Amino acid sequence: MKNMYELGIPVPANKSLVVRTIKDVNKEQRERTLQKTEYNVFSFPADLLVLDFLSDSGSGTMTDLQWAALFHGDESYGRNKGYYVLLDAIRDVFERGDAPKRAINMILSGETDAQKLMDNLYLTSHEGGFVNGGIHQLARPNVFIVPQGRCAEYLLFSTLGQLLREKDPNKEYYIPNNGHFDTTEANILANGLHPVNLFSKNLMDDFPYDQMSFRNPFKGNMNAKELEALIQEKGVECIPLIFLTITNNTAAGQPVSMNNVKAISKIAEKYGIPLFFDACRFAENAHFIKEFEEGYKNRSISSIVQEMFSHVDGFTISFKKDGLANIGGGLFFRDNGVFHERFSIKGDIGIQLKEKQILTFGNDSYGGLSGRDIMALAAGLYEITKESYLNQRIGQVRKFAKELAQNGIPVVLPAGGHAIYLNMDKFFENTDMKIDDFGGVGFTIELLKHYGIRACELGPFAFEWDKKTPEQRKGILNVVRFAIPRNVYSSSHIDYAVEAITELYRNREKIPKVIITRGAKLRLRHFQTGLRPIYKD
Ligand code: F0G
Repeated sequence: MKNMYELGIPVPANKSLVVRTIKDVNKEQRERTLQKTEYNVFSFPADLLVLDFLSDSGSGTMTDLQWAALFHGDESYGRNKGYYVLLDAIRDVFERGDAPKRAINMILSGETDAQKLMDNLYLTSHEGGFVNGGIHQLARPNVFIVPQGRCAEYLLFSTLGQLLREKDPNKEYYIPNNGHFDTTEANILANGLHPVNLFSKNLMDDFPYDQMSFRNPFKGNMNAKELEALIQEKGVECIPLIFLTITNNTAAGQPVSMNNVKAISKIAEKYGIPLFFDACRFAENAHFIKEFEEGYKNRSISSIVQEMFSHVDGFTISFKKDGLANIGGGLFFRDNGVFHERFSIKGDIGIQLKEKQILTFGNDSYGGLSGRDIMALAAGLYEITKESYLNQRIGQVRKFAKELAQNGIPVVLPAGGHAIYLNMDKFFENTDMKIDDFGGVGFTIELLKHYGIRACELGPFAFEWDKKTPEQRKGILNVVRFAIPRNVYSSSHIDYAVEAITELYRNREKIPKVIITRGAKLRLRHFQTGLRPIYKD
């Protein structure tokens, strides 16, 4: 008899004890709302939706343990207790593998022994890793808590941009990535640097849906050959940093293999260039390594995460994804590592970053977050590395993709960790839809209008095809993404979405082309432009 895994059915890992009613809204009401919100799905009131797949960012359900931790939130302006707990949770999750200290338990269990708290939490000294502690965090800061991922990107790239310009205003600088997320790309560009996407060659290759539980081609990998070619062509001086995004959100949410992490790390080391993770979905990525990469089957998620992070010099992260938190982000780099050395040009780079953090987000112990958020986030970091949870999570995404594929819908396979992506080139094959007609946007408008489902175009509209050179356009995929919030939807929600997408596919000839009516030239325009669908009759 086959087990549920072989049958592609995720084993339930949790149950819901609180529910929220979905409003009864009809098609005409949604149509009127679309008109009033310039057909931009970002502007559509979420309360009027049936299902919301716009983003998995901050939209997850927290666990009972997180809610319990939230009550311990400390709103003190300086050095709230959650700050210490979070720093230690980060050491636990990213550096300690199978030997976590779980200092958080002292707070959650109401420890009153002051000496014990001082010795094990408040005055502990750490150096040499991603999270200096005690006096070392003051002398050489390397932890920057911020409200979300893009704040960490802003801190990093605005600081580097300025340093590099001052060093040599005539040089051009390039930041390679296996796939820059839109905010990363925008922060790099806004600071006068050039983002470069080095997607894996096999990204859009076909893959049989019935093989998804058995093998994985790690299509999120960075093309290592192209990376070396880029370094040789531009010169080491002009590549300030290399980024690896795990999982690769822009490349259809595909995972990156440990082998690729090692290969890229080797290249980075060879040329003395710091390697950073964009670590938003690190736990989901670790789960793929465990499932599909040789030698990792019997390893814990925690030890795989530890190994992954041992190969990088720093990371930016949005905890709104794999932190299972509703808010939070951070920038971390290795104490006295390559990054620290390379960019401590005008004094300690950490001190410079901290100055900017205080100027823009808040002092280093809260970084623009409430004490409650910090506690929920610290507890969340332990929740998301649980294997049963990850099995259910990734199993649900996989099942969504399989059901679409069975209905003949061109979904990118295998499914990634947090979302399914429709290949809109294939979706509109043999119709008169061209890439700059923004068919993916037309599809999301119709899906919302008819069925109350919100998805997100992450193709030529979001990545601004019309503003780019033919060379830059090579870095754009034509996809629509359905990002699945964590612990929110059940199989009945997924069934509803599969049927709706299938019905639209059958009627794809009727999907309108879309024109931009306002704000085409804005940066990160997809969050705010006005649009108009052009219906055929
Ligand atoms: N990097 C990646 C890979 C991301 O997916 C995101 C956000 C960010 C950075 C920025 O983080 O939103 O906290 O500022 N992705 C969300 C999404 C918005 O829907 O994919 P943020």
